[in-house]
Amino acid sequence: MELINKYIEENKDRFLDELFKLIRIPSVSAKEENKPDMLRATEYIKKSLLDAGADKAEVISTEGHPVVYAEKSIDSSLPTVLVYGHYDVQPAEPLELWASEPFEPEVRGGKIYGRGADDDKGQMFMQLKAFELMNNTGTLPCNVKFMIEGEEEIGSPSLKKFCIDNKEKLASDIILISDTTMISMAVPSITVGLRGLSYMEVELTGPNRDLHSGLYGGAVLNPINALTKMIASLTDENRHISIKGFYDDVIEVSDEERKEMAKAPFSLEDYKKAIDIDKEVGEAGYSTTERTGIRPSLDVNGIWGGYIEEGAKTVLPSKAYAKISMRLVPNQNSRKIDKLFQDHFRAIAPEGVKVKVRSLHGGEGYVSPLDTVAYQAASKACETSFGKKPVPVRSGGSIPIVSDFEEVLGVKSILLGFGLSSDAIHSPNENYPLFNFYKGIETIALFYNYYSELMKG
Ligand code: BES
Ligand code: MN
Ligand code: MN
Repeated sequence: MELINKYIEENKDRFLDELFKLIRIPSVSAKEENKPDMLRATEYIKKSLLDAGADKAEVISTEGHPVVYAEKSIDSSLPTVLVYGHYDVQPAEPLELWASEPFEPEVRGGKIYGRGADDDKGQMFMQLKAFELMNNTGTLPCNVKFMIEGEEEIGSPSLKKFCIDNKEKLASDIILISDTTMISMAVPSITVGLRGLSYMEVELTGPNRDLHSGLYGGAVLNPINALTKMIASLTDENRHISIKGFYDDVIEVSDEERKEMAKAPFSLEDYKKAIDIDKEVGEAGYSTTERTGIRPSLDVNGIWGGYIEEGAKTVLPSKAYAKISMRLVPNQNSRKIDKLFQDHFRAIAPEGVKVKVRSLHGGEGYVSPLDTVAYQAASKACETSFGKKPVPVRSGGSIPIVSDFEEVLGVKSILLGFGLSSDAIHSPNENYPLFNFYKGIETIALFYNYYSELMKG
């Protein structure tokens, strides 16, 4: 522990400099124009991994954005940790809401501001630096592999195939991921559940062109009016999702387990204050943390159509669109939900509009068991660095590839993330506290130690 903190203390400014260089590369996976930046990011990470002590590192192309792979083998009889992270980020828009440039990182009030500061450049970089630390202090206790992808924020469309094609190369005992949150730095927690996702886009067409809303209004079905009614009917007065069969595969969590989960500290007042709402709203019969942790949800992510520019234009639009995401819980199947949604949405469409429904992307949820060596090691690592035993928590977010890792590689993942809900990931002014960045490096190094120790049996 002394050794770890000494190394971090002596190198902390350089760590930050190096992270800033990565944040400056606008690796937005969703945008075609950033394709060259994706390549620059991979080259930068490859070099960082080699500098950190990897035996070899390579940029491997896929059908989509490339993957950076690296490894360091010290002894084939020792366990192997495979680190997963992502170098792609969400688009920075709306730009005018940022207090500083999204791709020009800066520290204000002890926090790093910039797109990717937390998700996932800041967190992934902690993994690289913990690896460097162990190499340079001669304390690396096991073999390590890295797989850093560039398509997480668009649903990892190429990574499953990459895993299938590279099964041998990716062979490992545990997958280590820093891409989740903790309750707070005072209340460390380990994420033991992720939700799945079914993400749809719908298109309604009414008349074959925009119409004068005076000449036609009242006589022709307006697709935006129709769409909003259809969307409103997707949940009932109890905020239950009304798609037939939607809950069929949801496993009800036992009262005992719910009681256990309710022990995790949570302040509803702070929660509401942080996002400036006066009332929390969700499915009847469940608490706020249960609504995101163990229950599925349905949200419109965007809705458009008609005239939305400056001033007025009296039209009855031809088209209406919406993007709708459903967060799923383990045992629900995203393909099955896609189909249920499609059938349901078509069935509820009124006469007078044509409906198109397509699936954008999806993935399955994940629950990680607590009775594993990896969980114990992560728990001990947090306990040592934070001075407090961490609480297991089911998160509402998704990292769809995690369930594929289990299916394709047959390896479980441990989610050792250090983000905070106040980090504003995917939002303007994304940030990551310096404290978390350095604490994360320390905790990761400790994880390796405990994990290797416990694996010896
Ligand atoms: N790192 C997040 C997911 C996350 C954040 C999980 C905090 C738990 C706590 C990840 O980058 C993400 O944003 N995932 C997407 C998945 C999607 C684009 C397929 C999500 O959850 O919306
Ligand atoms: Mn992420
Ligand atoms: Mn993300």
